[in-house]
Amino acid sequence: MNFYISPSIIAANFTNLKKEIEKIEVFDQAFIHLDIMDGNFVPNITFGPFIVEQVRKITNLPFDTHLMIKNPNDFVEEFALAGSDYITFHIEETVFPLRILTKIKKLGKKCGISFNPATPVESIVEVLPYVDMVLVMSVEPGFSGQEFISSSLTKIEKLNELRKSKGYNFLISVDGGINEKTMRSVLDAGADVLVMGSFFFKNDLSFVRGVIENLRQL
Ligand code: DX5
Ligand code: ZN
Repeated sequence: MNFYISPSIIAANFTNLKKEIEKIEVFDQAFIHLDIMDGNFVPNITFGPFIVEQVRKITNLPFDTHLMIKNPNDFVEEFALAGSDYITFHIEETVFPLRILTKIKKLGKKCGISFNPATPVESIVEVLPYVDMVLVMSVEPGFSGQEFISSSLTKIEKLNELRKSKGYNFLISVDGGINEKTMRSVLDAGADVLVMGSFFFKNDLSFVRGVIENLRQL
């Protein structure tokens, strides 16, 4: 199986962030997932462009920035300048997604759309021709360490079907509750990118490596 991993530093030890990021660097096909929370769209606060810019100085891994914020249009430029490679925002936060997607592209970055577990695939169908990534939330956004919501699998399958039938090129990324038990079904449904917080940073690296390498050999 061919897939990317995107470990979220939300679950990392921030007092030793460089060491934590080095754990990601041992993998091929890896991004860093940056969970940006504003205490407004979601009931939690993480970090902003200042930290993203600092992290940019210590690694060459592609930055997969996930904006869980109100008014994403007002912040995409800052996150682009801070060194993001992919910038993804939520459909629930805007009625002008195409405007924001265009803005991200004009900044020379890849653009992504995300949607919550209670939001149907239909809500993003119109933007699919314009996106580089679709981020399927398989937990309610806000916290790492939650349980995978299995109805997300149907959404991944639907997106995969649409991609095939319409000839779209976006990556399907899945975010929330990804671990050794849920990974396989997500990949079978058609996902290309596995976002992982607790699984990656709260287990031994040798265990994580074994699970990922086994799947890649299938
Ligand atoms: C949830 C975030 C996720 C999450 C991943 O709001 O977008 O990236 O923290 O953490 P795990 O893998 O622990 O669910
Ligand atoms: Zn995320």
